[in-house]
Amino acid sequence: MGVTVNVSNAILHIARNGAELGEITAAYWCRQARNAIEDHGAFYVALSGGSTPRLLFEHLALPSYRDAIDWTKVFILFGDERCVPKDHEDSNFRMARETLLAPLGIREENVYRIQTERGPDGAALDYAETLARVVPGGMLDLVMLGLGPDGHIASLFPGTAALNEGNTTVVPVFVEKFSSWRITITFPVLAKARRIMLLTAGEGKAAIVAEILDKESNHEPYPVEMIRAREQIDFFMDEGAAGRLEGAL
Ligand code: 6PG
Repeated sequence: MGVTVNVSNAILHIARNGAELGEITAAYWCRQARNAIEDHGAFYVALSGGSTPRLLFEHLALPSYRDAIDWTKVFILFGDERCVPKDHEDSNFRMARETLLAPLGIREENVYRIQTERGPDGAALDYAETLARVVPGGMLDLVMLGLGPDGHIASLFPGTAALNEGNTTVVPVFVEKFSSWRITITFPVLAKARRIMLLTAGEGKAAIVAEILDKESNHEPYPVEMIRAREQIDFFMDEGAAGRLEGAL
């Protein structure tokens, strides 16, 4: 099923199509959840936002996965959030609620939403406290990340001060290109995470995927290349996103 390629700091998992990408990412997510629950009785995961995770969440809601995980031991956090109300169409929480939380009946007490109603600074401060209170040692079992065409991950966008944050775990960030505020976890949180799953799909991401994996390319590091992870990052993509990889590997 698909191909796996080991590159310097990532393991590439390339699916032939969307259905296969949903399948291999759900199997991986389920494995991480079961391992964590077996190891320390809980699975602390930070979900990524945007549209790509929808495929994975819909797969996890299928009986084969729904019945394979003790969801009462799964604690859901978020890697980032747009500063919009939780019911807004751009809300990462809303997308997760519609495709994962509600279909699986995940209890509200197991879900830690970024409370955007507190405003950028208040929400970031509150979420940093939540992360410290809820997650033992601040060490998430899995952080899910999407990849923007500009190489951003979570809401760590090129050129923002958030990239230089070395202590605070959650910060507000004003994203010029969207003229909007976001809340994001920072690199120190990624550095602590047991596993990081990078998930991207579609031809629109082929250029950035090829560039960050091209050892010959001497571009300014993108945010995704600034991650200092404990383990190799599991990088999942479909053939569309892998479309320009031949020469880069
Ligand atoms: C967000 C995300 C962001 C996203 C990428 C990819 O809140 O938008 O966390 O980092 O993962 O922008 O987004 P798509 O999956 O929509 O391409």
